[in-house]
Amino acid sequence: MQSLQSIRGMEDLFGDSLKKWSWVESQIQKVFHAYGYEEIRTPAVEPEALFKRGVGEGTDIVEKEMYSFKESDSESAQRVVLRPEGTAPVVRALIEHKLLQVLPQKVFYMGPMFRKERPQKGRYRQFFQYGFELFGEASAASDFESLLLVAKIYKAVGLTSFEIQINTLGDPEHRDRYRAKLLEYFQSHASQLSQLSQERMSKNPMRIFDSKSPEDQKICEGAPLFTDFLDGEALAHWEELKTFLAEASFPWKLNPRLVRGLDYYTRTVFEIVDTGGNLGSQNALGGGGRYDGLTKDLGGPQVPALGFAGGMERLLLALGEKIPTLPPRFELGVVAIGEKSHRLALGVVERLRDLAISVDIDPDSKKSPKAHFKRADRMKAPLVWILGDEEINQGLVKIKNMQSGEEVTHNLKSQENLRQSYVDLLSTLIKAR
Ligand code: HAM
Repeated sequence: MQSLQSIRGMEDLFGDSLKKWSWVESQIQKVFHAYGYEEIRTPAVEPEALFKRGVGEGTDIVEKEMYSFKESDSESAQRVVLRPEGTAPVVRALIEHKLLQVLPQKVFYMGPMFRKERPQKGRYRQFFQYGFELFGEASAASDFESLLLVAKIYKAVGLTSFEIQINTLGDPEHRDRYRAKLLEYFQSHASQLSQLSQERMSKNPMRIFDSKSPEDQKICEGAPLFTDFLDGEALAHWEELKTFLAEASFPWKLNPRLVRGLDYYTRTVFEIVDTGGNLGSQNALGGGGRYDGLTKDLGGPQVPALGFAGGMERLLLALGEKIPTLPPRFELGVVAIGEKSHRLALGVVERLRDLAISVDIDPDSKKSPKAHFKRADRMKAPLVWILGDEEINQGLVKIKNMQSGEEVTHNLKSQENLRQSYVDLLSTLIKAR
C-alpha cells in the first residue's frame, strides 16, 4: 500500500529541531511576560466573515489563500476557515468576552496559522506565529514601547542580523487621498506594469509596492510619497514616534513603500527583515502596526490598538546554528545487570523522576548487559549509572561519563535504606553537573 504523507507546505516537527523551537518559544514568552502580556488561545477555525471584514476582501490572504469550508452539511451553515492570522481572532475574542471594557488589554499568542500559498523555503501552508496585541493605548509612546519589545524578542534569541523597517499609513482619510493620487500615477504607467500589478491597481494600488518585478519597482520609485499626504494628528503622531526613536538611538530604517498585506492598519506599520541571508526572498521575520479602526469594524467599541506577529519557521531558519547547545533528552542512563539490581534500579529511577530528573532505563531486565550499554549509548545520556551485585553489596555508585569514557566510583553514605541512599547520591551528582 502506498504510504501517506503530510500535506504539501505542512511540516512535521520533532527531535532536535523541535527542541530548538521550544527553546525559542520560551525565550519569546519571557519577553512577553516582562512587558505584562498574558497568553490567549483562540480556535484554529473561525467564521470566514471575520477575515473578510477584518483583514479585507481585496487582500491576497482573503482572496486566494484561505482554507474555506462549510461548518456543517446544513443548507444554512456558515462558511468557516482555518485562521490565516491571529489579530482578527484576538479582536473577535476580546469583543465577545467583553474584555475591551477594561483597558489596557495586553495579550500574546503562539500557534499555527494557515495560508494556501505556494510553498517554498520560509513559506508554508501551515506556519506558526508568535504575536502580541495591545488594546487601549493611543500614544506614539506605546508604538515606541512595542518596537522596543519587538527588538528585544530578536535579541533574546540571539539574532543580530535584522533590520526594523517602519512607515506610516496615516488615518483612513489620508489613505483615501493617497490611494486616489497613486491610482492616477499607476494608471499613467499601466502599460509598463506587470499583469499582477495591473490586477492589484484597481483593488489596492498600494499593494503594487510589494511587487518583486524589477520593472514594477522602477515605476514605484517615481510614485508619490505617502508622507506628503499626512497632516493633523496622524502627522504629529508620526513625528513624535520618530523623536522617541531618535532620542533612544533606536536602529530603524524608513521604508516609505512599506504598506503591509492586510487592510486593517492605520498610522505606524513596521516589518522586521532578516539581513543574514539565510532566508532568500521570504526574509520578513515579522510585521505589525497600529489598527485603530479594527475593533469597531468587527462590532466592538472604538479602541486604539497595536500589534505584531512573527513567523517561527523563518526565525529558526534565520538563526541557523546560532541556538545555544540544548540540554540532552536524558540526564542519566542506567545499566543494571541482573534481576536484583534491575529491580532496585527501577525503584531509584522512579524516585529520581519524582525529582524531575530525566532518566532512561530499559524496562526489560532479561536483556544482556551489552544491550543495556548499547541503549544507553543510543539515548545519548551524558552519565550512565552502572549497577550490579558487586556495587550493591559494597554500597558503591559507579558512574560512567559517556563523553570522556571515564568511570568514577563513589561510596554510598549509608546502606540502611539502600534505595534512598542511591537517590540522594545520584541526584546530588546530577545536579552538580
Ligand atoms: P503578516 O505579515 O501577514 O502579519 O505575518 C507575520 C509574519 O508571519 C510574517 O512576517 C512571516 O514571518 C510569517 N508568515 C506569514 N505567512 C507565512 C507563510 N506562508 N509561511 C511562513 N511564515 C509566514 C500578520 O499576520 C498580522 N496579524 C501581524 C499583526 C499582529 N499585525 C498587528 N498585529
